[in-house]
Amino acid sequence: MDIAPARTIEWVGNSNGAARIIDQTLLPNEYKHLDIADVETMWEAIKVLRVRGAPAIGIAAAFGLYLAVRNSAAPDFAAFEAEVSEAARYLGTARPTAVNLFWALKRIQKLVAAHSALPVAGIKALMLSEATVMIDEDNAVCRAIGSFGAPLLAQPPERTICNVLTHCNAGGLATAQWGTALAPVYVAAEQGRAMHVFADETRPLLQGARLTAWELQQAGIPVTVITDNMAATVMAQGKVDAVIVGADRVAANGDVANKIGTFGVAVLAREFHIPFYVAAPLSSIDMSLASGELIPIEERKAEEVTQGFGKRTAPEGVQVYNPAFDVTPHRYITALITEQGVVHPPFDAALKQLFETPV
Ligand code: MRU
Repeated sequence: MDIAPARTIEWVGNSNGAARIIDQTLLPNEYKHLDIADVETMWEAIKVLRVRGAPAIGIAAAFGLYLAVRNSAAPDFAAFEAEVSEAARYLGTARPTAVNLFWALKRIQKLVAAHSALPVAGIKALMLSEATVMIDEDNAVCRAIGSFGAPLLAQPPERTICNVLTHCNAGGLATAQWGTALAPVYVAAEQGRAMHVFADETRPLLQGARLTAWELQQAGIPVTVITDNMAATVMAQGKVDAVIVGADRVAANGDVANKIGTFGVAVLAREFHIPFYVAAPLSSIDMSLASGELIPIEERKAEEVTQGFGKRTAPEGVQVYNPAFDVTPHRYITALITEQGVVHPPFDAALKQLFETPV
């Protein structure tokens, strides 16, 4: 089976060009690109989830940083570096949870700092090429996650199809092209294996129903949308062989921040003896945080809950709590799937080793 997910983000044109994204707020009704040529528009695109998913917003932030300073007239390196640093601070305010955003900003800032001897024009060119390199790297990383993860998605002997449940969208739309949680599904399908995905709808912004269902349909992989409160039933009915989700930030002990609702799915998977996998690149692992309770959790506006997509579904003025992510304690996670291989518990020791001896 030939699969080629759409490119979520790319650079078009020369140094005066733009970052082209798929505007994910319009999916599945409209498939439309948006060319972003200034940092404020990039900040807004990240904030309102036109571009979303941890790896994709990292790449978007890297392009955003270049856009912020490409017309800079800074007279010397110190002034230029100060502008870069202010733009990085600004972009970092768009969304707090996915560590990839900060990872990417730091990476570009380090590159800038390492080239203080170059003329500012040369540094600008390096910033753009580094952001572009991140796309190729992300594709390679996601393909590797796919190859390591595919063998884990196995069906019981009596079935000819593997049924996977996922939450939110950690597919191609959340990365440059191939996804993290969906990469193993794509690789298994490429290998000729029959795959079927239950996509949790994912309240309140419906990334599962709008995005995961859309991209799997595009790829020709059977997908069934369920509302979030149906997961227990499909698991109890024996319809799920494995759960696989992505991550916005993994702490050093293996606790995982991911889309709100992930924790509940993990608890259910444990109840029904279903393996629960988290697919995440090393850039989503934050070894500076000992445990998940230290991960900053984004809270979003009440309207997403009370009148998501236009129609009011709760009384005006009602109190709302809308955290965008939750933290799944590491004890519920069967394994982490990274580009360097499958990481098993105990995660604290395994992750330490992974970062001390990268391949
Ligand atoms: O709020 P979103 O849509 O950016 O949340 C995305 C998720 O929670 C994804 O599962 C996560 O970023 C992993 S993406 C490969």
